[in-house]
Amino acid sequence: MRRTHYAGRDFRRSVNVEDVRRLARRALPNFSFEYVEGGAEDEVSLRRNRDVFERITWLPRTLAGVGTPDLSTVILGNACQLPLVIAPTGFNGLLWPQGDLALARAASEAGVPFTLSTVSNYRLENLLADSPGPTWFQLYPVRDAKVCDGLVDRAQAAGCRTLVVTTDVPTFGAREWDFRNYRAPMQLDLRNKLDVLAHPGWLRRVMLPKGAPRFENLTEFLPPGSQSALVGARYMGTQINSKLDWADMERMRARWKGKLVLKGILCVEDARRAAEIGADGIVLSNHGGRQLDSCVSGVEIVPAVAAEVGQRMTVLVDGGFRRGGDVLKAIALGAHGVMIGRAPLYGLAAGGQAGVAHVLQLLRAEMERALALVGCRALGELGRHLIRS
Ligand SMILES: Cc1cc2nc3c(=O)[nH]c(=O)nc-3n(C[C@H](O)[C@H](O)[C@H](O)COP(=O)(O)O)c2cc1C
Repeated sequence: MRRTHYAGRDFRRSVNVEDVRRLARRALPNFSFEYVEGGAEDEVSLRRNRDVFERITWLPRTLAGVGTPDLSTVILGNACQLPLVIAPTGFNGLLWPQGDLALARAASEAGVPFTLSTVSNYRLENLLADSPGPTWFQLYPVRDAKVCDGLVDRAQAAGCRTLVVTTDVPTFGAREWDFRNYRAPMQLDLRNKLDVLAHPGWLRRVMLPKGAPRFENLTEFLPPGSQSALVGARYMGTQINSKLDWADMERMRARWKGKLVLKGILCVEDARRAAEIGADGIVLSNHGGRQLDSCVSGVEIVPAVAAEVGQRMTVLVDGGFRRGGDVLKAIALGAHGVMIGRAPLYGLAAGGQAGVAHVLQLLRAEMERALALVGCRALGELGRHLIRS
């Protein structure tokens, strides 16, 4: 018989993230799967984020008496059961009703932090109240300083302790495959409208109750009575801050009293600068291959960055992590933890909170297995000596 991936509908039977991804593809209409899946331009960065892991290979130790490996760690003061943080992703309500809350609760149950995006469909104050946490807040540092400061102050007042400032969007990356699905902003072409009708389960779950989910953190900045997803998206389009610079980050550091993390760092010089302005952490990230194309992958620069700032600040990395073993490779190279974006989104689309929990459980099992097989009892025993890259 030919080898095939799991092709049924029960996400609990999927044996790895790729199986769950295929379930998500079937559950979602084409346009919303493309929104999750795609990368910028020729998708060279996107592919590199996956390919890079095949070039990093283990040099395992045997007869190490590993027992049951310990995957717990501390990330920016949060006791974590796994070395993972759920990355900020916008428009999660397009995949599952109250998708942000489903992700946050699954993360909390698995003992990892969840990062709420500025462009979430769940209001930040409500999320902090409705999920046990820990919840981090991601800020797009928008052009209007009053709006930007307002979001920071709201996160602080709501009790959020970690602010992740996304630095790699001075302009929007061009996800061309995504563009092709629309005839005008947020207006699907006929082919995609028909495809939506062919997904009645998604329509019933996501669209029929209330229509396209709104950007709930932005509603107060939009005209009353005109707060649809379309108006919110247009507003964000006007708010991209192409002039964002290090002085803005110093201002942010002075305003935000909690842990400050800069996301979208991709070279040693910028990592050093982040440490100098007093950031507590960085995320080495090419935004999941959605911004600059033909770009280095975060994991490739972990060793150099960790050597430079790893003692002074928390070094996180993201991009293409789909296996527990990928996560361990990043840690062996010097990262303190890994952000995951699409992997939990596949789980969300396939099965809501339980689907996300399933993905986190798959990653946990893979990490336990890989840690034992490389010959370590705990994450702290991982190191460069176990890697040939
Ligand atoms: C659908 C989607 C939406 C995203 N939205 C945001 C966002 O609102 N803010 C942000 O900083 N990054 C955003 N990202 C980037 C992720 O935070 C993260 O850097 C990336 O997904 C990691 O790569 P991975 O998906 O391969 O794990 C988004 C990524 C995806 C796939």
